[in-house]
Amino acid sequence: MENLIRDLEVISAANEVTCEVKVSPENATGKSRKLYIESYGCQMNFSDSEIVASILAKEGFDTTSDVEKADLIFLNTCSIREKAEQTVRNRLNHVNGLKKKKPELLVGVLGCMAERLKSKLLEEEKIVDLIAGPDAYRDLPQLIAQVDDGAKAVNTFLSREETYADISPVRLNSNGVTAFISIMRGCDNMCSFCVVPFTRGRERSRDPHSIVDEAEALFAQGYREVTLLGQNVDSYKWSAEENNKARMEKMAVGATINFAQLLEMVANVSPDLRVRFSTSHPKDITDEVLHTMARYENICNYIHLPVQSGNSRILELMNRGYSREWYLDKIKSIREILGDDCGISSDMITGFCTETEEEHRETLTLMDEVEYDFSYMFFYSERPGTLAAKKFKDDIDLEVKKRRLQEIINKQNEHSLKRNQLDVGKTFKVLIEGNSKRSKAQMQGRNSANKVVVFEAPGRKKGEYVDVKITACTGGTLLGQIV
Ligand code: SAH
Ligand code: SF4
Ligand code: F3S
Repeated sequence: MENLIRDLEVISAANEVTCEVKVSPENATGKSRKLYIESYGCQMNFSDSEIVASILAKEGFDTTSDVEKADLIFLNTCSIREKAEQTVRNRLNHVNGLKKKKPELLVGVLGCMAERLKSKLLEEEKIVDLIAGPDAYRDLPQLIAQVDDGAKAVNTFLSREETYADISPVRLNSNGVTAFISIMRGCDNMCSFCVVPFTRGRERSRDPHSIVDEAEALFAQGYREVTLLGQNVDSYKWSAEENNKARMEKMAVGATINFAQLLEMVANVSPDLRVRFSTSHPKDITDEVLHTMARYENICNYIHLPVQSGNSRILELMNRGYSREWYLDKIKSIREILGDDCGISSDMITGFCTETEEEHRETLTLMDEVEYDFSYMFFYSERPGTLAAKKFKDDIDLEVKKRRLQEIINKQNEHSLKRNQLDVGKTFKVLIEGNSKRSKAQMQGRNSANKVVVFEAPGRKKGEYVDVKITACTGGTLLGQIV
């Protein structure tokens, strides 16, 4: 069985893939039914699968990594590009074969595709029994009971409040060292190309105390890095209700918490707990966040700041809320406050509606000015219902979109190598995450700037910090020796 399918449309210079698939691990505790959950899309979706596993663990489900053993198959899906949805439909075809052999098998579609297509998906994909959108996971036990009684079940209500703050996630696919914490849900931006506001609903922030509690619990279990997740973390905002004011006063924070303050609260859990975050929006990231990062050694020196395009007219059509100049000013502030070693990465889209050759070249020249460490790069894929689909014609030929994509990939590869070469000779503090993917004799981890570092580490264990001097590199990896 394939447990990692690569979406070839999604390519990053650091050889990372955003549209990977994650499969639930084997966790046999003697419960009566087995859940197999396969997750697509972004890290937030993977985190949601951990909430789902937690909710169902209380309902008598163990997770399994073997789809053939499952009583319940969930696909937690992504709608971001057409290709992502096609991958899920192909997967459903495969599951169809399993269901023929095992008719009592229950098949559910969760996540963004469930939300986008709602009960229409039941008509289109006959084998699906259950549909649950991202805000409906507390209802899963009830929905499963409905299917057990012979009905189909659908819940795609979006909530203005749900943050699953009180649910402690069952960590799936965890290395025991790094974990993700969702700090908010939904998105209130309306980037014209993007389906997320429709599939995830309105933006809402999670109670900061539940976030700090989760970080403390992870640290106590041996985790040494948390990544705070949201579609736009810089707009995190939480106002205390009456019953929480006393606790917030005790923590010497005001009645309203912004993202910089939340970062600081999590950084204070322990100097040995690294803190990362994703995604920052160029229009919302503040100097206060940058200064907070500079003050705390354990807040990692790395920012994912998707630009999408280097041309101001296209950025306006995309409704991103900033221009090329504004973006480059942000980069300047980052370099001034956090230095040249700060890792910076991006997302880019080629061939957005009406993009001219010259406008595409502005993305290339912006890349030259910024020199990203790595990027996730895509060609534009029109999504039904989005502002762009309603207002603009998807008028750039696929061949042109792909050629432009290849040009930005080539550019990024040059920059990734160049940025890594600048690190040769430097010494970095690295958190060991486990054995290197290529060889058991070596271990790997990341430095503060989020670069993968591979080194020999006899007698060292994952979860330890080591100082590594960089001796060589490729475009995707730094190689070094412990000093
Ligand atoms: N909230 C994040 C992005 C989440 S989606 C942000 O604002 O940066 C991840 C990436 O997918 C986006 O940054 C964008 O580059 C890409 N993407 C989103 N919609 C797309 C579409 N319709 N076609 C191609 N790429 C898209
Ligand atoms: Fe989509 Fe824009 Fe929201 Fe990111 S900020 S999730 S690109 S609408
Ligand atoms: Fe995909 Fe939904 Fe994430 S559309 S990228 S899984 S928020």
